[in-house]
Amino acid sequence: MRLDQETIERIKQAAQVADVIGDYVSLKKKGANLWACCPFHGEKSPSFSVSPAKGIYKCFGCGKAGDSVRFIMDIEGLGYGEALRHLAKKYSIAIQESPLTDEQLQAQNARESLYIALNYAKNYYQNNLFQHEEGQSIGYPYFKERGFSDKTIKAFELGYSLDIWDAFTRDALKNGYSIDVLEKAGLTIRKPEENKMFDRFRNRVIFPIHNVSGKTIAFGARILKADKNQPKYLNSPETEVYHKSNILYGIYQAKNAIRSKDVCYLVEGYTDVISLYQAGIENVVASSGTSLTLEQIRLIARFTQNITVLYDGDPAGIKASLRGMDMILEEGLNVKLVVFPQGEDPDSYVQKIGSDAFVQYITDHASDFITFKAELFLKEAGNDPFKRAELIKDMVGSISRIPDSIKRSVFFKKQQA
Ligand code: UTP
Ligand code: MN
Repeated sequence: MRLDQETIERIKQAAQVADVIGDYVSLKKKGANLWACCPFHGEKSPSFSVSPAKGIYKCFGCGKAGDSVRFIMDIEGLGYGEALRHLAKKYSIAIQESPLTDEQLQAQNARESLYIALNYAKNYYQNNLFQHEEGQSIGYPYFKERGFSDKTIKAFELGYSLDIWDAFTRDALKNGYSIDVLEKAGLTIRKPEENKMFDRFRNRVIFPIHNVSGKTIAFGARILKADKNQPKYLNSPETEVYHKSNILYGIYQAKNAIRSKDVCYLVEGYTDVISLYQAGIENVVASSGTSLTLEQIRLIARFTQNITVLYDGDPAGIKASLRGMDMILEEGLNVKLVVFPQGEDPDSYVQKIGSDAFVQYITDHASDFITFKAELFLKEAGNDPFKRAELIKDMVGSISRIPDSIKRSVFFKKQQA
């Protein structure tokens, strides 16, 4: 849906650059311009300038520059249209959209009602955790045992689903949500032939999944005690607002830190993200047990060109990291890998050795993909010339995926050394 030119002009007029940027950094006046430490790269003395007269900003450190719309696109990771709508909302400008077809209108309303229901569910589960007796005696102690503080629980909006078949569904119906919407949001499962409906998530702790701008779009739900007959995590199904291959768990909480640290740590699980975040390592997202996709890599690329993959030390984890690594290279991003000692994942390891030692471990063990593959395969290959030849072929394969020819040749030289 396009905005008409007149509306765009009105938004740009209202969104004065200093006012927009002032929400994100503290600007100090010096001469005709305003100055701050750049929000796009880490720095200690201000090289980020805003010119109210020209309506633009420019960082003399990293070169980022543009108008207020560009700023919102970069800082919030939004597209052009999304950034304009974001500003329109802030400055209460009614949006004159070109008229929607009935079909478009319906689709938009349908999505909007899913967001509202998902947000309601998020609040409901959160409320269970803190207010309901069952949440207080079962859900909350579980998170405490895992070492999560109240602050962390709130930052990730964690919750609890009761051990009752349809507690959420009945509550939501009572509050005016239609069964149709609850089902489409993936919250309620319906068996019309048996005239039954029940909650998808029961007797589990709840991890809301947010989109880049912080809206709840789905849930992951963990069982409390190991049970061979049930999956450890249950996740929302694909819905009109949740496409799991397009999203990374934790991106909303991590995006600012990813940008300022200029690197994104990629882990496998919900709890890895949360434990690292709590330890002060906030630039971390998870692929949530699925293999990494191009859309996910592009989502990270809105904020940084550098990814460090932190996967478990087991063979499955290493295999998954190798696949992901080639895709990252292909997208033109830089990738490093860190493997953890057998039996540890980032969550368990950071809780075991603490935040400083963890950061040191990453620094000491981050290897580029050539070194990583060489170490991994040379162990297996030993002196076998055929296996060694295969390894070289494999590394050349990875290198040839790098789109930038200069970077590519650096790695070719390294590989020959
Ligand atoms: P892990 O089994 O490594 O879980 O799965 P974890 O994150 O370490 O979980 P804890 O520490 O035991 O609580 C990694 C990720 O794979 C997805 C989840 O997103 C999980 O965080 N997963 C795993 C599922 O979706 N379903 C499952 O049954 C298991
Ligand atoms: Mn774990």
